[in-house]
Amino acid sequence: MTTDTISSALCTTIAEAHGAVFSARMANRTIGLVPTMGALHEGHLSLIRRAAAENGFVVVSVFVNPIQFDDAADFVAYPHTIEEDAALAIDAGADAVFAPSAKEMYPDGFSSYIDMGGITERLCGAARKAHFRGVCTVVGKLFHIVQPDRAYFGEKDAQQLAVVRKMVRDLNFPIRIVGCPTVREPDGLAMSSRNARLSQEERKAARCLFRALSEACRLFAEEGARGAAALTGAMRGVLAAEPLARAEYVEIVDPETFASRAPEAAVHAGDRAMLAVHVGGVRLIDNMELTETRETLADHD
Ligand code: PAJ
Repeated sequence: MTTDTISSALCTTIAEAHGAVFSARMANRTIGLVPTMGALHEGHLSLIRRAAAENGFVVVSVFVNPIQFDDAADFVAYPHTIEEDAALAIDAGADAVFAPSAKEMYPDGFSSYIDMGGITERLCGAARKAHFRGVCTVVGKLFHIVQPDRAYFGEKDAQQLAVVRKMVRDLNFPIRIVGCPTVREPDGLAMSSRNARLSQEERKAARCLFRALSEACRLFAEEGARGAAALTGAMRGVLAAEPLARAEYVEIVDPETFASRAPEAAVHAGDRAMLAVHVGGVRLIDNMELTETRETLADHD
C-alpha cells in the first residue's frame, strides 16, 4: 500500500471526517463506523471486514480516549501505532481512518458528558468509576461526527456493547449497533491490544481466562449445572490454580442489565459468564454466553 493511499484516507480533524462522510452520502453509500483505540489486531479487523461487507463506506476511528482511563499509567502505556493501524484498516476495507488528537476531541473548556446509571456501575464500571462515562461520551461524539447507519462493536467487551446499545436506545441515535463475535488466539486467549504487554510466562498463564469460562460453559451445557454459585465457584477454582492470576471479578450476569446472578439464583441460557483477571500487571477481560450446546476450542482453530 502506498503512503498516498494512506494519507488520502487519513483524517485528523473533525472537518476532514465530515468532508469524507459527506462525499460518501452524496454518492448514496451507507456508512459503517468501527470505533477503536488502535494497536489493531485480528479482533478489530474482523469488525472492519464485517462493516465493509455491509456498507458502502467504512470509517474506522483510531483514538486512545483519555477520559475512559482511570489509571494514568495504563493510558500512557497504551500503544500508538497510527501508520500501521491505518494500513491494516484500509487493507481490511476501511475507506477513511479518523485519528483525531485529544485537543480536537476535547478542546479547552470541554465539559459535557454522557452519564448512564445502572449497568455502567457494575463489573468493569465498579472499580473504574469514570470508565463508561468516558466510553459513552466518546462514542456519542463519534456518532455525531460520522453519523453512521451502522456501528460495529465486539462481544469481547460485552458490557460495553450492552452499554452502547442502551445509550442508542435511551438517546434515540438513529444507528444500528452490530455485535461481532470474539476473535481468539489458537489457545483460546481473546485477542487484545493488552496481550502484547504480557511476558512469555504471563502469556501462558493468561490462558486461564478461557479455561475458566469454558469450564462454566461445560458445566452448564453438559452437566446441567444451574446454580450461579456452582459456576462462579468452578471458575474461581480454575483461576486460583494459576499463581500469576488474580481475579478482579467472576460473575454470571443477566445479558441485558449485566446485574450479577445472586449465588443462590438459577442461571439461564443466554446469561453471560464474565471475568476480569490481572495477570502480572496486565488487566484482562473476557466473557462467554452460556448456551445449551458448548463452545469448544476446536471452534476457534
Ligand atoms: P478497543 O479496545 O480498541 O476495541 C475496539 C473494538 O474492537 C471494540 O468494539 C472491541 O469490543 C472490539 N474488539 C477488541 N478485541 C476484540 C476481539 N478479540 N474480538 C472481537 N472484537 C474485539 O473498545 C474500545 O477500543 C474503546 O472503548 C472504544 C469503543 C473505541 C471507545 O473508546
